[in-house]
Amino acid sequence: MTGFPEGYVPVRLGGVDSTNEEAKRRAAAGGAVNGQVLVITATEQISGRARRGRGWVSPPGNLYCSLLLCPDLPAAQVARLGYVAALAVREAVAGALPDGPAVTCKWPNDVLVGGHKVAGILMETSGNLPGPPDWLVIGIGINVAHHPAGTEYPATSLKAAGAGTADPDTLLQELVSRFDAWHRILAGAGFAPVRQAWLDAAHGRGRAITVRAEHGSMQGIFTDLDDDGAMLLGTGGGIRRVLAGDVMFAPPA
Ligand code: BTN
Repeated sequence: MTGFPEGYVPVRLGGVDSTNEEAKRRAAAGGAVNGQVLVITATEQISGRARRGRGWVSPPGNLYCSLLLCPDLPAAQVARLGYVAALAVREAVAGALPDGPAVTCKWPNDVLVGGHKVAGILMETSGNLPGPPDWLVIGIGINVAHHPAGTEYPATSLKAAGAGTADPDTLLQELVSRFDAWHRILAGAGFAPVRQAWLDAAHGRGRAITVRAEHGSMQGIFTDLDDDGAMLLGTGGGIRRVLAGDVMFAPPA
């Protein structure tokens, strides 16, 4: 693969258990050095993984990619890179589609087309808190040709949304170049422009939501993001800071 920005090193695989697992194996073996970012892709995954212990069905035809990097950020700010990745995915997806359905970001890191999930991001990290992580894996799945049926949150693919000629390789080029551009903005100008761009594209800001977290559900109004990327949820008891969970939207009133 050619055409990546400087410092991005392609690793192209056929079938693999999970590109995130492969990235973690490579991290353990020395991984991404000297500021490089490994871009690990596979044509299919046998044990693709999603957030909160779920699986990610991964037949050939979609994009499966994991970025392995050593971010120079304290652990509390690593979530910022999830927004960088989500913006990059959103722009790559929007560029592949004909004009039409809105391409939006759903907290924390999903991308939607016409309100249906087209892409998800799984971030994994390791290190001694609160210092910078030893490594960060940003795993990205984009439904290009296929999408699962019967998911709790409805899914779609680029093909189903009208991008019949979209292909994983072209999408990857665009994704990596957009990631690099947003990463430079984060490094140069801080989180404010990233946060604002994500909020401008956010699905359901100001709406009533339920957040399913590890230890139960919370309800409130999706109000804002804070400087570390936590969601601020307006509840009857005040603003709550939410670091992880699944968002479900109440139907519009
Ligand atoms: C989610 O929506 O919960 C996140 C899904 C992330 C899927 C991608 S596909 C490439 C990478 N490898 C994995 O096993 N998972 C991520």
